[in-house]
Amino acid sequence: MKTQQELTDYINEAIASIPYPQQPAGLYEPIAYTLSSGGKRLRPTLLLSVMEALGGKASDAVNQAMGIEMYHNFTLVHDDVMDNADLRRGRPTVVHKWGRDTAILSGDAMLTMATQLMARCPADKLPDVMDVFNRTAMEVYEGQQYDMEFEQRVDVSVEEYMNMIRLKTSVLLAGACEIGAVMAGAPAEVRRAFYDYGVSLGLAFQLRDDYLDTYGDPLIFGKEIGGDIVNGKKTWLLITARSEDSDGALSRIMAANPAPQEKIEAVREIYDALNLPRRITRLIEQYTDNAVRVLDTVSLQPGWKDYFTSLALSLNDRAL
Ligand code: IPE
Ligand code: IPE
Ligand code: MG
Ligand code: MG
Ligand code: MG
Repeated sequence: MKTQQELTDYINEAIASIPYPQQPAGLYEPIAYTLSSGGKRLRPTLLLSVMEALGGKASDAVNQAMGIEMYHNFTLVHDDVMDNADLRRGRPTVVHKWGRDTAILSGDAMLTMATQLMARCPADKLPDVMDVFNRTAMEVYEGQQYDMEFEQRVDVSVEEYMNMIRLKTSVLLAGACEIGAVMAGAPAEVRRAFYDYGVSLGLAFQLRDDYLDTYGDPLIFGKEIGGDIVNGKKTWLLITARSEDSDGALSRIMAANPAPQEKIEAVREIYDALNLPRRITRLIEQYTDNAVRVLDTVSLQPGWKDYFTSLALSLNDRAL
């Protein structure tokens, strides 16, 4: 049984050896820059872990693992355009360094490369792999669209928010798990269980991302803190604060719309007063618990249940 770190190292090596054409450099440099900028490699590690947990060999799913990470990185490049973000993984974003046109086109190329990698698999697995991948990709766009639309709305409910983050984030973790199961030749109910594990894990993951966007250490998190508040993102934190804004303090800040830093600090104070950091942490723990419980329905080789449990728990208090 491989450790999570061994699988992450393995995928990192594989990604580092992806060949890029030299020309036009303006297209390929931003791609190489993005893929070499680190990142936790969570999705490919999940994919390879499921593959191994179900009796497959990581090396037999390495193209799909690279494909899912390439797809994820494509979504980040375009997401930073949409979110007006200057910093990612501690470095300038592609849009900040090269501009919008390059971010769009290099992102497009990454999507195509992701599809090519994904499709490099045995013919008997190809239809299922591409079905899961394409369905997942479409759902991510739906989630990103809701995320943008919600910026313009004040009446977003927690249910709408949870559905939005399921689409923009969870399904990709879930899809990674399911593709791992497909590559291992697992039956439908096992595919489904790992998909469900990924969905709950992804909900916890995005809730933690939203928490870190307000409370993270920028040097560790690698992204600018407070971007969600400045962009008017409808996170669980903001939706909850709004619904409990009995003295109207939050409404007054929103109406006054002060300079970014002042706004971030004022909103954070309101979150603190409502004890939201603790409350969101409890919510994250509940979704992690849901994820872990799904795997009780699957019979796994020794050690793997603990593996997926500790993987889920390690994401709970991550700072990166
Ligand atoms: C960032 O994903 C986008 C979200 C879904 C929150 P990650 O936090 O996995 O980003 P990297 O790949 O580790 O940088
Ligand atoms: C990420 O949402 C969703 C996708 C990239 C599809 P965020 O906008 O919160 O991600 P970060 O915080 O920029 O990584
Ligand atoms: Mg976004
Ligand atoms: Mg973003
Ligand atoms: Mg975020």
